[in-house]
Amino acid sequence: MRAILATLVCLGLPVAAQQAADTVAPEGPGAGALHIPKMLRASAEAKAAGRPAVAGDWMIAAAHPRAVEAGAGVLRAGGTATDAMVAAQAVLGLVEPQSSGLGGGAFLVWHDGDTGEITTLDGRETAPLAATPTLFQDANGKPLDFFEAVVGGRSVGVPGTPALMAEAHERWGRADWSGLFDDAIRLAEEGFAVSPRLAGLVARDAGRLARFESTRAYFLPGGAPLRAGETLRNPAYAETLRILAQQGPEPFYTGDVAADIAASVQGAAGNPGRLSETDLAIYAVRERDPVCAPYRRYEVCGMGPPSSGGVTVGQILGLLAPHDLAALGPDSAEAWRLIGDASRLAFADRGRYLADSDFVPVPVRGLLDPGYLRGRSRLLRGDDALPEVAPGTPEFDHALGWGDGETLSQPSTSHISIVDAHGNALSMTTTIENAFGSRLMVRGFLLNNELTDFSFASHQDGRAVANAVAPGKRPRSSMAPTILRRDRQPVLVLGSPGGSRIIGYVAKTIIAWADWGMDVQEAVTLPHLVNRFGRYDIEPAAARLAPALEGMGYEVEARALTSGLHAVEIGERLTGGADPRREGLAYGE
Ligand code: GLY
Repeated sequence: MRAILATLVCLGLPVAAQQAADTVAPEGPGAGALHIPKMLRASAEAKAAGRPAVAGDWMIAAAHPRAVEAGAGVLRAGGTATDAMVAAQAVLGLVEPQSSGLGGGAFLVWHDGDTGEITTLDGRETAPLAATPTLFQDANGKPLDFFEAVVGGRSVGVPGTPALMAEAHERWGRADWSGLFDDAIRLAEEGFAVSPRLAGLVARDAGRLARFESTRAYFLPGGAPLRAGETLRNPAYAETLRILAQQGPEPFYTGDVAADIAASVQGAAGNPGRLSETDLAIYAVRERDPVCAPYRRYEVCGMGPPSSGGVTVGQILGLLAPHDLAALGPDSAEAWRLIGDASRLAFADRGRYLADSDFVPVPVRGLLDPGYLRGRSRLLRGDDALPEVAPGTPEFDHALGWGDGETLSQPSTSHISIVDAHGNALSMTTTIENAFGSRLMVRGFLLNNELTDFSFASHQDGRAVANAVAPGKRPRSSMAPTILRRDRQPVLVLGSPGGSRIIGYVAKTIIAWADWGMDVQEAVTLPHLVNRFGRYDIEPAAARLAPALEGMGYEVEARALTSGLHAVEIGERLTGGADPRREGLAYGE
């Protein structure tokens, strides 16, 4: 091991050093101007052909080739999945700034190769101490328009990602911390090619990005949106990463970076927030109890509150357990009726009960209790869509007189799945919430708008809402970083962005893999049909199922469902799937 560490330190993980020489334009339909490093070309070809990436010892799947490249360099040099995550996250914050970064939060699920234990870390943003339940209401108590709330300082929670990276590294890292930022620093200084996805999102959001000077200067240089393929440098981000590399996360929470974050939030023209330096100073990553639920031969382990991800995925699968989905198959409308209504039942419970368990009692065990789920599952016995769906009454020993919250969660975010050569597996979903978060940019990174994941309404029909804003509270999330295990060994690592549809994307991928025998790339690619609140959102590729679903009583809407699933299967070899709906890749050796 000492030799490995020496290699990591001495070589400085020099993946990006070869970047200019190795960069080639990809071939194949839909690749556009995305630049793929030569090393990843076979992965890009496999993805385009619908085949998984294959490897023997380690693998990483993430949302941008540059992040995969940085993580792969760490894994090749003997680093752990945590080391690779730090390097990949640092690059994602640069090349995919709209989705995640140092100004955001994340949840991490870790399977430890030495102990066989699952650990979950909560790096979720917190509300400022000065926040009140009416934070997102106007003077008459009416919920604000979503973007009125989002753009500016009001929506910014204390970022958790820098602290989470450091906490995970302290627990499970083997590589020298400071070297893990080399690739991202080099890319930020030398520049990277703007991807088609980033360029498209900048063009779509130009009006909001233009509201704040530093954001406008970076994304709309000279007043025009960034173009795909143009070289973009971010020296301010490089400088921030140097601080993180040399001093760790402290300056983000008690030093100059913290002061700049608070000043930016409080000074946001038109929509200031109340985040203070004290809020940053008291931030802490929390270890949470993993949420594990059985499904078929597997144990499905994910993130508990304040994320609803682990519980809601576990509930959907638990409600489906009595049904033979394998016999029905993916082309059966009956299978999708069961999946759709199981999801609606789980979302009804989610809306009422799921929130930050440090602030409200959350009946996690009751919601996943096999008896409770068996009872709820009987509601799926008919032939048609359930006319109405209401939350159940899981067993718990506190009063649960909550009203149903209405929380908007917009599809942004990013997901990283990694398996290392030491037997560890890591699943991390990472976010700044909406695309480009609050649109406030500090020291080269964007600040989140995570607080809009709280319910804007604090009450419903006179009943308190569990996910209402409160000082120091963490907003409910849908992020569902997941590890499936069999006999305590990891077999599938996955997760996705996508707001509250994340839950449906992850559940579908598990069903496609576990029930329908698809390989990991097929399972990721399979068209989405997502039902949260009654309406069936389906991808155009699944339109053939629409008439049958409509006949069962569903309202059906065909639309793009831009998940960003990244998954690694651990079998005799490692196989990886990257979502064809985004720019990511899976790569291993
Ligand atoms: N902001 C996305 C989520 O936490 O669900």
